Amino acid sequence: MFTLTVCNHKGGTGKTTTSINLSAALSLSGKRVLVIDLDPQGFLTRMMGLGEPEPDQSSLVLFQQDINKPPPIQRLTAFDIIPSSPALSAAMRKLNQPTDVLWVKEYLQAAVHGYDVVLLDTAAAVTVYSLNALVASQAVIIPVAPEYQPVVGAEQTWHTVQMVRKKLNPGLREERFLFTMVDGRKKNHRAYREYMRGKYGQIVLQPIVRTCTTLSVSARNGTTVFDTDATARGAVDYANVADAIIWMMGPQEAELIGDGSSGVTDRESRFRAATTPTR
Ligand SMILES: Nc1ncnc2c1ncn2[C@@H]1O[C@H](COP(=O)(O)OP(=O)(O)OP(=O)(O)O)[C@@H](O)[C@H]1O
Ligand SMILES: [Mg+2]
Repeated sequence: MFTLTVCNHKGGTGKTTTSINLSAALSLSGKRVLVIDLDPQGFLTRMMGLGEPEPDQSSLVLFQQDINKPPPIQRLTAFDIIPSSPALSAAMRKLNQPTDVLWVKEYLQAAVHGYDVVLLDTAAAVTVYSLNALVASQAVIIPVAPEYQPVVGAEQTWHTVQMVRKKLNPGLREERFLFTMVDGRKKNHRAYREYMRGKYGQIVLQPIVRTCTTLSVSARNGTTVFDTDATARGAVDYANVADAIIWMMGPQEAELIGDGSSGVTDRESRFRAATTPTR
């Protein structure tokens, strides 16, 4: 089971959009995907048409001691989900012990089985929930729009990830920045992408997500961009991001996504081309 956190301390950088559509793309690539909404505001939960679930049917259960009850997983067409509840906000005040960063890791190990990917969507803040996500994860995606504040937020998030790796989760692999809401016509977008590539090299994913209206209107009542218009550029972009993530999961996983001819898959060559650093 490959556990992946999506986070950026800055709000509105495409975390939830990435969580939904990347999960849908991974699912279309044959992966069994569980999404866990750890944002007390629960936008992902709402966007997937699940409203405000009762606390005992939400991700709050991960922070309680009873692992004998079945996890509150709901099945959607695109993927499975443990939704969020506003009760997470109040519960946060009680999660103030050093060991309170371990709940999600321990819950996943004890109670969640049978998934290829578990993806954790987080709020735009360093909270006990986002720290739990990072402690439980093998990989992190930091969605970043190529604008001043999201880039600063992404760099702050990068520092948090370094701290978590050093102190709490040495198994956390190198994070990946994912540019979202990219408008190729804007000079400042090009400048921020060059700045990040120059500073962080190949941990900036070469696949990007361009601005796409279909993405912003598609996640309603449980649908994703792939249901609304599978040819939209948001769908194409998230399919490419999914390929990159499958490569992060390891070579055995990647073997499964290509045609296998000549030992090099279509997606492998596409991904290699996509991730070759430009500088
Ligand atoms: N590639 C895109 N093209 C156009 N609009 C987008 C794109 N990605 C996200 N959006 C829109 O930008 C807004 C913010 O996106 P999203 O909710 O995914 O960000 P977030 O980082 O999860 O925000 P928060 O920090 O509040 O949780 C939403 O209205 C979403 O529809
Ligand atoms: Mg969000």
